[in-house]
Amino acid sequence: MSKRKVLLVVGARPNLMKAAPLMEAMSATTHLQPFLLHTGQHYDANMSQVFFDELGLPKPDCYLGIGSGSHAKQTAQVMVAFEPALIEQQPDLVMVVGDVNSTLACTLVASKLHVPVAHVEAGLRSFNRHMPEEINRIVTDALSDYLFTTDRQANENLRREGVASEKIYFVGNVMIDTLLKHRQRALGLDILDRFKLVPGHYAVLTLHRPDNVDRLAVLHDLLEAVGRLSRRLPVIFPVHPRTRQRIQTFGLDSLLDGYPDLVCHEPLGYLELLCLMAQAKLVLTDSGGIQEETTVLGIPCLTLRAETERPVTVTEGTNVLIGADTERLFAETQRILDGRGKSGRLPELWDGHAAQRIIARLIEVMG
Ligand code: UD1
Repeated sequence: MSKRKVLLVVGARPNLMKAAPLMEAMSATTHLQPFLLHTGQHYDANMSQVFFDELGLPKPDCYLGIGSGSHAKQTAQVMVAFEPALIEQQPDLVMVVGDVNSTLACTLVASKLHVPVAHVEAGLRSFNRHMPEEINRIVTDALSDYLFTTDRQANENLRREGVASEKIYFVGNVMIDTLLKHRQRALGLDILDRFKLVPGHYAVLTLHRPDNVDRLAVLHDLLEAVGRLSRRLPVIFPVHPRTRQRIQTFGLDSLLDGYPDLVCHEPLGYLELLCLMAQAKLVLTDSGGIQEETTVLGIPCLTLRAETERPVTVTEGTNVLIGADTERLFAETQRILDGRGKSGRLPELWDGHAAQRIIARLIEVMG
């Protein structure tokens, strides 16, 4: 039987941790021939190449080089560049992961060319359409043929939107496959020494959501609150390029200068950040993936958003939603410092084998 060709799309940083175990699982079968396409939505070495190196992802078979732009421009440019690549490659299936603009753009193109689409991490809903990712999720799921979910709530969300049950497969979390595979290796790094940090005596901050960083008052208040917190617990802050730009444009560098224990740094590689998170007292974030990773690591996570598309991290994991409420930030931090932080359990099927389940199912259904 000839191999079925699967074109896997990556575009932005969080796609890469999800793609790595999928590529590995596909390469391990004799049934599938993977083809890796990178749209170039993220292009800086520390937002893309470092993850290929660390996670053993092969060099993309095709690179579209799209780069940054407004939502319409970025989405449209991915579509225009992806269409001829798809026509040339003629895969049996397009596989997309997550909820970034590249996910949406490639799904739209593939479905109009009648190429089946598999969406990995389907069914997540924040129910906040102000988030661009929510629009991307809804449209991608509506057009996908195979929807692979990370928790049972996602199955329910999809059914409520009218997706046929036989298209939905609860398989677990591919990002956690990557975390479990690399955790030991990450713990061997010397990054705590480099930052002069003591295990269990520092916090990690990540911040990049437009709702938090694109408005001066919100960003100012968040940074000031974390700065005050850093006087009690040092905070390491790998700064996303979007956030770096906003800090500069809003003239907030001088505010940060007043907090020497709020340590700003360039974006970190996967292993370095994992090493830092795994040994932190707590993590402050507005990232989706980090809410999941801290749940698996058993590290308390305070999420700087009002809602989450990953509710299992709250109901079963270590996650607490605090929005942009700085008083709540201090109160919850105090609880954690007092040893009363939330502990959690591992969500169902977050066991390191999600990618294998996805690939086994695809081989079954693709024939
Ligand atoms: C994107 C995703 C978001 C994801 C995040 C992870 C969408 C709608 N958003 O947001 O879901 O959580 O990635 O990082 O797809 N930039 C650089 N270098 C890069 C990439 C970006 O400097 O390699 C700067 C550019 O100025 C760009 C800005 O960051 O305009 C934002 O990049 P973009 O890809 O539009 O969105 P993110 O905020 O990264």
